[in-house]
Amino acid sequence: MTVSLEQSTIGFIGAGNMAGAIARGLVKKGHDPQRIIMSNRSSGKLEALQQELGIRITTNNQDVCRSANVVLLSVKPQMMKDALAGLDFTSVDCAISVAAGLPVAKLIEFTAEQVAIIRSMPNTPSIELCGATGLYASQSVREQHQRAAEYVFGAVGEFAWVDDEGLMDTVTALAGSSPAYFFRFMETLIDAGVKQGMDQDTARKLVVQSALGAATLIKNHPDIAISERRIQVTSPNGTTAAALDSLEESGIATMAEAAVNAAVKRGKELSQS
Ligand SMILES: NC(=O)c1ccc[n+]([C@@H]2O[C@H](COP(=O)([O-])OP(=O)(O)OC[C@H]3O[C@@H](n4cnc5c(N)ncnc54)[C@H](OP(=O)(O)O)[C@@H]3O)[C@@H](O)[C@H]2O)c1
Repeated sequence: MTVSLEQSTIGFIGAGNMAGAIARGLVKKGHDPQRIIMSNRSSGKLEALQQELGIRITTNNQDVCRSANVVLLSVKPQMMKDALAGLDFTSVDCAISVAAGLPVAKLIEFTAEQVAIIRSMPNTPSIELCGATGLYASQSVREQHQRAAEYVFGAVGEFAWVDDEGLMDTVTALAGSSPAYFFRFMETLIDAGVKQGMDQDTARKLVVQSALGAATLIKNHPDIAISERRIQVTSPNGTTAAALDSLEESGIATMAEAAVNAAVKRGKELSQS
């Protein structure tokens, strides 16, 4: 890559939810919207994003490959082959797929081995710039390509590299799918509060803010173990201890492990299909 990341043009093929979230993050972080180009099959979402962000738009995917240094492949996995068919990637430095479950080998095949491929697995909190993205670099990826991916996903949250593609299914289980586990846990806490006689809005406000507060405490103090935090707030024989004992008796650890194993298993099945 001969230009700096700030000066580089970032392209998107597919203008859906994930592409929109990442483009918003980049613009918010100060990336020049004129250095973002996005294509889509239909024009409605493109026009809305152009109005909102001032990015360049096209309904021709090749325009993106012609203009961009880094191209995000952001169509649905089942649409990828068609979206990439016949495209010339020779002037693109690297392509980053956000497609869930689509292996690097397929992406190399769909791009006719013309470009270095990075596989990413972002999650929906990226929309609020609180995303968690797992990244995997294929063999032809160079350090400058990795920095480009970090620039893109750093704009919408945190990222982590895995060095074994098989672990992308674990990324899906721990990041891609996990917001839904936390949503479910919040739902159950709110329902339990309502059963105790509290109104829904109050229960929701208390539970959501507690979830945010707990995550913020952990994130802002990485030197303190999560278990230490838990022990700090658990007085012997107190209310928290009673609740935690109940969760352990109900098998919380077994449930979480089974949930992660189920997501990994399903991810592998989907990748193979
Ligand atoms: N959303 C998530 O939480 C999430 C999380 C991790 C990964 N992902 C991955 O992100 C990718 C996109 O997901 P999404 O939720 O953003 O989907 P989406 O909202 O459905 O967006 C996909 C977009 O691709 C466009 N498209 C389809 N075929 C095309 C083609 N041949 N050329 C150009 N554009 C084309 C569609 O255009 P039309 O509107 O005209 O059909 C649509 O706007 C998926 O591969 C998914 O696995 C999503």
